[in-house]
Amino acid sequence: MFSNSVSITMSDDDESNETNRFRSTTRTRRKRKKPGHRTTTSELPRCFLRLLLRYWILLVLLLAFGLLLFESTRIGTKSPNSEHNQLKKSPDSSGNLNRLDPTTKVIGGVRQRCLKLLPPEELEHLDILDRKDSTSPVKKLVYLTGTDSSSSHVRGNGTRFNLFTGNQSFAERETSFQVTETVSVHCGFFNENGGFRIEDEDKMFMQTCQVVVSTCAFGGGDNLYQPIGMSNASTQKVCYVAFWDNVTLATQEAEGHKIGDNGYIGKWRVVVVKDLPFMDQRLNGKIPKMLSHRLFPEAKYSIWVDSKSQFRRDPLGVLDALLWRTNSVLAISEHGARGSVYDEAKAVVKKHKATPEEVQVQINQYRRDKLPEDKRFNGKKLCLKPL
Ligand SMILES: *[C@@H]1O[C@H](CO)[C@@H](O)[C@H](O)[C@H]1NC(C)=O
Ligand SMILES: *[C@@H]1O[C@H](CO)[C@@H](O)[C@H](O)[C@H]1NC(C)=O
Ligand SMILES: *[C@@H]1O[C@H](CO)[C@@H](O)[C@H](O)[C@H]1NC(C)=O
Ligand SMILES: *[C@@H]1O[C@H](CO)[C@@H](O)[C@H](O)[C@H]1NC(C)=O
Repeated sequence: MFSNSVSITMSDDDESNETNRFRSTTRTRRKRKKPGHRTTTSELPRCFLRLLLRYWILLVLLLAFGLLLFESTRIGTKSPNSEHNQLKKSPDSSGNLNRLDPTTKVIGGVRQRCLKLLPPEELEHLDILDRKDSTSPVKKLVYLTGTDSSSSHVRGNGTRFNLFTGNQSFAERETSFQVTETVSVHCGFFNENGGFRIEDEDKMFMQTCQVVVSTCAFGGGDNLYQPIGMSNASTQKVCYVAFWDNVTLATQEAEGHKIGDNGYIGKWRVVVVKDLPFMDQRLNGKIPKMLSHRLFPEAKYSIWVDSKSQFRRDPLGVLDALLWRTNSVLAISEHGARGSVYDEAKAVVKKHKATPEEVQVQINQYRRDKLPEDKRFNGKKLCLKPL
């Protein structure tokens, strides 16, 4: 009924674990390099040599860390020029991009892979897991649309509520949580005229997808990073879909990234969306991210890729490792910095991602819903981002 999904995101600020780890390493190393005593001028060359002899390896490491940090921030930056160059690089060029080596972490003194993928030959034989119908008491799910009720909302341009979202009252929201055989929910696409329009040809293609990896770039933003590391089986069974708007289309075409006659750029099938419903591109971006079950009605599984990240693993392997083996329905990356929605709300305001008033409305409701201050999930930081 609801499709299962994996969300692969890099935090959209500079607080990712990785960066912090690199930062703290360089900091401690620098400290150790500083000798505590003074040296006279004549002693200096010898002293320097001695230091160099003793710590040359640290210097090399520092350089390496510096390079890594530089490369990872370059992937994270928006500068169209630098990304343009990155895309043209061959796969064996240095840096983070296009690297297939596994990410590891030390658990109990043992270095382990973060993602425990099956070996390549087994990946080739992975089938999409078809879960038996769940024992859910919900038999019918109805998405409310503007035609269901006497809705007279106008298309609001600057508001949170428009024909796309509808204008759900708190009472309606409360009712939608009640488990009954037929459940009616507001879930975006409230009205046919609500925006986020997709060509019929693209819709038809999207209806064929059983497993989808998707991403988006609206407002001219980011370049596409080509996915790599997929099995031959996934190449056959998985749709890679990138949602663009006409601004991104124009920007990318100007940079020479043209959509082919078949609708693809590399592995990505590009779907150009018309009539984005929100002024704020961050909100528009939430539509394909959160509503992939609406966009891909036949898909059983979906993986979301942040536009600043490159997807470098076999998607079926990822689903197997994160969902199928543990009988899970959702996998989400740990927040790099915060474990509290209320702290996240403060950060959202501080970074001017939304107005304090807008955030307050949401936070008040979360408190009323009794969402705990520090919500940990299996002891891990998990953060529901406001917006
Ligand atoms: C949404 O509904 C509320 C009452 O339920 C109303 O006060 C508000 O004006 C409506 N907003 C829009 C944009 O229609
Ligand atoms: C909404 O549209 C009107 C006219 O179409 C415009 O004057 C107004 O500035 C817009 N509001 C926002 C928040 O962009
Ligand atoms: C995948 O397909 C390519 C060419 O179609 C082939 O060369 C390669 O051996 C295949 N890989 C596996 C693991 O089957
Ligand atoms: C994108 O579409 C909108 C609405 O149709 C139009 O106003 C705008 O000029 C278009 N922008 C580009 C870059 O084509």
